[in-house]
Amino acid sequence: MKDILGELEARRAAARQGGGARRIAAQHSKGKLTARERIELLLDEGSFEEFDMFVRHRCTDFGMEADRPAGDGVVTGWGTINGRMVYVFSQDFTVFGGSLSETHAQKICKIMDMAVQNGAPVIGLNDSGGARIQEGVASLAGYAEVFQRNIMASGVVPQISVIMGPCAGGAVYSPAMTDFIFMVRDSSYMFVTGPDVVKTVTNEIVTAEELGGAKTHTTKSSVADGAFEDDVEAMMEVRRLVDFLPASNREKPPVRPFFDDPARVEMSLDTLIPDNPNQPYDMKELILKLADEGDFFEIQEDFAKNIITGFVRLEGSTVGVVANQPMVLAGCLDIDSSRKAARFVRFCDAFEIPILTLVDVPGFLPGTAQEYGGVIKHGAKLLFAYGEATVPKVTVITRKAYGGAYDVMASKHLRGDFNYAWPTAEIAVMGAKGATEILYRSELADKDKIAQRTKEYEDRFANPFVAAEKGFIDEVIMPHSTRRRVARAFASLRGKKLQNPWKKHDNIPL
Ligand code: HXC
Repeated sequence: MKDILGELEARRAAARQGGGARRIAAQHSKGKLTARERIELLLDEGSFEEFDMFVRHRCTDFGMEADRPAGDGVVTGWGTINGRMVYVFSQDFTVFGGSLSETHAQKICKIMDMAVQNGAPVIGLNDSGGARIQEGVASLAGYAEVFQRNIMASGVVPQISVIMGPCAGGAVYSPAMTDFIFMVRDSSYMFVTGPDVVKTVTNEIVTAEELGGAKTHTTKSSVADGAFEDDVEAMMEVRRLVDFLPASNREKPPVRPFFDDPARVEMSLDTLIPDNPNQPYDMKELILKLADEGDFFEIQEDFAKNIITGFVRLEGSTVGVVANQPMVLAGCLDIDSSRKAARFVRFCDAFEIPILTLVDVPGFLPGTAQEYGGVIKHGAKLLFAYGEATVPKVTVITRKAYGGAYDVMASKHLRGDFNYAWPTAEIAVMGAKGATEILYRSELADKDKIAQRTKEYEDRFANPFVAAEKGFIDEVIMPHSTRRRVARAFASLRGKKLQNPWKKHDNIPL
């Protein structure tokens, strides 16, 4: 008996060694942690339960039969984050460069199937040289099996990808189909074809970092939702994010203890809006002042900064926030901001996370670049996402809500449940100056007259009361009491039931 126990320990120890001490040292020398060290940081201490530690590949080509490390380059299993179950796979770069074989893929598929069945998020820690070259099409098949599961799990359990090393070729498409992608600065990259192929085909000379590093994907391509300094920060932040999310679409988001009075008054908000309507202010200040304990987990912080998306809690419950940011492009909607916000709204709706929309939007960004780029279709994404969302929707218009953008930003007409406005709100087809120049074109030469017309237009429309008279705004609220009003609104909506008509699926403008 003792011998058998000893053998198990010996086998476990060998599996834990992965690709051996030399390769582990090489991994550390790149500033990267090993697959197992990452899992230890990600999960609650001692909570990890491993699957398939002894799985070995079945490849017999290229002398592979002589090299069959236990675990086959990926550590899989489940554990808890602050007591809530998650499934995790962590690719082990020290074993064949973390490359994906048939059996490696089967291990990932096993935990994905269990996650969907048992209703818990899947977290993938990616660090891999891609398809296991020695296995050929078997490895491509393995990828496709993972892809199919990513698709089936989408909207059922949250899927989070962290890119912690190379992720190239078709391998990028598994993370791409998950809900969130995070990268580690300077040690991770993602691209469909690498710098060498790019040079051959397009003559462009570019480094891996420029082509697919964290900066590129968080600021240019928007493939990634955030970037972290190192492996440790990445694992800590994923823990923080998971705390905001429900385990699956069968469960409500978690309610956390809170120590912040939901009725907290913020007098400083009464002076947040500058007297000059063209002067910007920082919408993030409002978000932080509304949130429990000022805790805000921002998604896509460095992309399309004219709109802000992320999670807060109100009375301990998760709320998704979408807010125009007047500091950037005056907070207008454009291609990038519409896409960014639409995806976020759809995530919230899929997982029953209520949505708070803070509006200060002067309209859609004009220009050929926008029109040629398809702003019509992209803007429609956000409109569509808000309109189809059945979760509780609370909207606060702080200042401008002009034109089509007024409609888009969770207006009453798109089934907004509570549509509040501050007294500083201006709800109109367009700004007073533009409107007068169109309505009174023949009087343009007469500056005094135009100024008077502009003033008349402002007096009539640059306020929330015209919309409130029609019931499009439920109530004009004091800025300082916004947290209390919004928290009460969401509390009243906890029992909301709303269903869209049956359909196979919709046809959102992609
Ligand atoms: C088998 C691989 C491998 C792979 C790396 N290794 N990639 N083994 N299949 N795809 C092995 C190496 O042989 C080496 O083994 C160890 O992993 C570490 O690799 P190094 O090259 O020494 O590391 P580094 O210098 O850090 O470079 C990492 C790398 C490079 C950039 C990822 O290894 C590389 O370019 N690999 C090939 C990438 C690739 O072309 N993959 C296929 C992409 S196509 P030893 O024994 O020396 O430690 C694809 C299609 C997916 O993935 C399609 C899905 C639909």
